Amino acid sequence: MQLRDFLQNKLSDKPDLAELFLYLFESVKKISESIDITKSKTDHLNESGDTQLEMDVLADVIMHDTLMSYSGLSLLASEERSETVIFNGNKFSVVYDPLDGSSLIDANFAIGTIVGVFPGTNIEGRTAREMSAAMIAVYGPLTTVVMSFGQGVYEFLLKDSGFELVKSDIKIESDGKYFAPGNLRACTSNKAYKRLLDHWIENQFTLRYSGGMVPDINHIFTKGEGIFAYPKSEDMPEGKLRLLYECGPMAYLVENAGGKATNGHINILDIPIKDLHQKTPILIGSKALVDLAMQFEV
Ligand code: AHM
Ligand code: MG
Repeated sequence: MQLRDFLQNKLSDKPDLAELFLYLFESVKKISESIDITKSKTDHLNESGDTQLEMDVLADVIMHDTLMSYSGLSLLASEERSETVIFNGNKFSVVYDPLDGSSLIDANFAIGTIVGVFPGTNIEGRTAREMSAAMIAVYGPLTTVVMSFGQGVYEFLLKDSGFELVKSDIKIESDGKYFAPGNLRACTSNKAYKRLLDHWIENQFTLRYSGGMVPDINHIFTKGEGIFAYPKSEDMPEGKLRLLYECGPMAYLVENAGGKATNGHINILDIPIKDLHQKTPILIGSKALVDLAMQFEV
C-alpha cells in the first residue's frame, strides 16, 4: 500500500496529521537523496557541544524548508538549533534530530532522522506522552521509516514509486537476547553498568551495536526484541542523548510497539521537558529486559 492510501485509510478522522505526515515523509526522501559522505566538518558546535557536519546543517535546512509549507505548523525545535522557530499555524509543534549519528556518515554506516509531533503550539513543560505521533527514518542500504500515531507501529520502505507500507503492527516482545550497550566508557565510573554488562555477557546475549541510536533501535523493531542502553557516566551525569529530540520520540514508538523506556527511575514519556536540549540516561526496548536492567540501578 502506498503512503497516501495508508494515510487516507488510517487517519481519515485526523486529516491535519495525515497532511503533516506527507511533509515529514517528503523531508525524509529529500534527506535520503542528499546524503553525501564527503560533506566535511564545519567549525560550529551545536547546542550540545557536538561539532556540526555540513550534512547536519543541510538535513536541518531540508526539514525546516519542507515543513514550513505546511499551514498547520506552529513551532519547530531542532537538535541543531539553539532556539525554536515559530510559524503562523496552530495545529502542531514538531521536534526533530535531522541527522542522528552523523559522525558515522564518512564510514558509510547507517544514520537516521528522529521526529516527534506535539499537538498545539508549545512544548515546554509537556511530556513525550502527550505527543500525537513520532517517526524515525533509517538511511542504510535502503531508506525505511518506522512511525506511529498512537494506534500501532508501521514500517515504510522508500521505493522509486514513493513510500510503500512493508510492515503493520510492529510488536516488541517482553523478553529477548539482543543488547546494544551505548557509552561503554561509563563502565569505569558506573560500576552498576559494568555489572549489567557482565549479566548480558554471562547470559550469552547477542551484541548488535552500530553506534547510531536510530539503526540500533530499529534493530529492536525489526527483530521484535532487545535492549538499547545509554547510561550516565562521571563525565556525563545525564548521559548524552536528548529527551526532546531523541529519547522522547523513541520512547513513544517503542511503547506503542509494547516495549518500555526509562531513565532508570521515571518512564521517559513522563519526564517534563524543562529545557530544549536537556539530556537523559536511557534504557529502552523489551519490557522484561528494561525492568531487569533497572534493578541494577545503572
Ligand atoms: P548525535 O546526535 O550527535 O549524532 O549523537 C547521538 C548518537 C547516537 O546515535 C548514538 O547512540 C550515540 O550518539 C553514540 O555516542 P558515543 O559514540 O559518543 O557514545
Ligand atoms: Mg542525535
